[in-house]
Amino acid sequence: MSEIAVYKVPESVAANTFCTEGQYRDLYKQSINDPIAFWSEQKNCVDWFRDPQIIKNTSFSGEVSIKWFEDGELNVSYNCIDRHLPSRANEIALIWEGDNPAESAKVTYGELAREVNRFANVLKSLGVKKGDRVTMYMPMILETTYAMLACARIGAVHSIVFGGFSPDAVASRLDDCQSSFIITADEGLRGGRKVPLKANVDAAIVELAASTGRSVDTVLVVRRTGADIAMTKGRDVWYHDVSQDVSDHCDPEPMKAEDPLFILYTSGSTGKPKGVLHTTGGYLVWVTMTFKYIFDYKPGEVYWCSADVGWITGHSYIVYGPLSNGATSLVFEGVPNYPDASRFWNVIDNFKVNIFYTAPTAIRALMREGEDFVKATDRSSLRLLGSVGEPINPEAWNWYYTVVGEGRCPIVDTWWQTETGGVLISPLPGATPLKPGSATRPFFGVKPALVDADGNILDGATEGNLVLMDSWPGQMRTVYGDHERFIQTYFSSYKGLYFTGDGCRRDEDGYYWITGRVDDVINVSGHRMGTAEVESALVAHEDVSEAAVVGYPHDIKGQGIFAYVTCKAGVEPTDQLRSDLVKWVRKEIGPIASPDVILFAPGLPKTRSGKIMRRILRKIAENDTDSLGDTSTLADPSVVDDLIRTYRVAT
Ligand code: PRX
Repeated sequence: MSEIAVYKVPESVAANTFCTEGQYRDLYKQSINDPIAFWSEQKNCVDWFRDPQIIKNTSFSGEVSIKWFEDGELNVSYNCIDRHLPSRANEIALIWEGDNPAESAKVTYGELAREVNRFANVLKSLGVKKGDRVTMYMPMILETTYAMLACARIGAVHSIVFGGFSPDAVASRLDDCQSSFIITADEGLRGGRKVPLKANVDAAIVELAASTGRSVDTVLVVRRTGADIAMTKGRDVWYHDVSQDVSDHCDPEPMKAEDPLFILYTSGSTGKPKGVLHTTGGYLVWVTMTFKYIFDYKPGEVYWCSADVGWITGHSYIVYGPLSNGATSLVFEGVPNYPDASRFWNVIDNFKVNIFYTAPTAIRALMREGEDFVKATDRSSLRLLGSVGEPINPEAWNWYYTVVGEGRCPIVDTWWQTETGGVLISPLPGATPLKPGSATRPFFGVKPALVDADGNILDGATEGNLVLMDSWPGQMRTVYGDHERFIQTYFSSYKGLYFTGDGCRRDEDGYYWITGRVDDVINVSGHRMGTAEVESALVAHEDVSEAAVVGYPHDIKGQGIFAYVTCKAGVEPTDQLRSDLVKWVRKEIGPIASPDVILFAPGLPKTRSGKIMRRILRKIAENDTDSLGDTSTLADPSVVDDLIRTYRVAT
């Protein structure tokens, strides 16, 4: 391991940080040895209407119950807005950069307060009550943030569906959380192309009625592009109409710490996406604290996370974490390569961005375009870079560090999940020497461990499956409406431990190196996709009898989607069918689930009990057929030779 470069904390960073190496060690030790004392103090990073006395009440065994600060009361929007007003009403809360570089806006905390109060009053006037689920299918516009905070203000539970998902995906999420209120926009705009959000919502509502008989009461539509869209009388209302007469004031609802804040659907290794439920107090403490320490945020700095708000990264680190800290957070509607590959860097220059947080897939895509697009820009405002969503390969890390950050900016490689609410493993800029490709060390209160297949905890420098031994405040509380699935998914592999689904190596310095998912989840451009979801979309096609999907290494996306498809008898496996199937999956799930490769397979390798041997399919997809391992347990080993032959012909 000695050849791995280690980047020491620059003195200038250590001299101006919330947390030096020594402070990290002391605080981390306290957080593990005496969590009650630690969190009794740290909970004060948020304002409570009623100060909690019961700090931690969590169990990873039996029925699994996770409660933090349970007798406390607070309101998330109060924390993200009102508490800053005395000192920061005129400071910038949000900067919005449109898809079109000519469009942008700045919103002060005072203006944010007004907009969120108004949005909250609109929701109330349309009958939304505390505890109601509000589905949002939105572009990256300011109103999306207003709507999230407005839900939080009145105690409604938002469920955001990423704007790139299909109508079917919207319908199934509406159904799962029994939501009958949708907020959307006429259209979205990305990379100069229009996304028909309202039309998709209409299609989702038709689909919902057809599959469940359920209907939606209200569709609240924000005008973005001004497109001429269909409005259904009695159901659809324009935000600009209903907001005309509402008041600028709406009292924040006092919420119990364990009241739900939001649901966010994410893919797992089996079945339909799960509704990950996050609650109010613990989540807010977690995102507030992690944002402050990991980005080492100082008042007045401009922070930009380039994620979409439809993913957890957007929830926690565009909206809740930054705003709770009174930060200036940049909301970007566009894409990294539009109008050209300098876009990110131009935005950084225009708004003097100090902290930039993006995904390895974007870094790799921009790296491919060459250095000129970066070097044409200044970027001298940057002082810290962040990475999230998938392992960052050392080549991309080095390019990010040397070309983008000019060797000046530490990189925080943050490991976490939708389920964890916020970051669990990451460097702290003033405390942690960096190793390219490692998420380094656990955040306060996080107790990672590596286990072998039997659940034995492994010591020292080793490799295994990553588990967490105890709860942290930002942890998801349940799968919405299905606590049994929560227990099964996360706590049944290893008794008493939360299983992340990730493989991981720990080196001799105690640094963690995430190696990727060890379950049937694939990570495509930092987006999680269940192979089972893509398979069930494929077999729903009339010409398909069977399908198996695996991930394979992809230069830009990290992993690509490789689908093995067996056609029904009498169906000719043509190129036309292949492109029809890609279109079909896009329609069923959304463009992010498009298979990169479809291999028509006469048969799939199965054990005698009929289980598909994915290990073999993965090896073939990786073109690593020399180490297929033992195939003697297959019902028909000749299937493998057929597949390899088909693969060679196809590629
Ligand atoms: O495999 C890990 C990978 O992304 C998974 C979580 O995906 P999702 O819930 O969509 O959340 C993504 C954004 C937080 C993890 O199980 N992952 C996330 N961050 C990293 C990572 N893998 C390696 N390094 C990371 N920094």
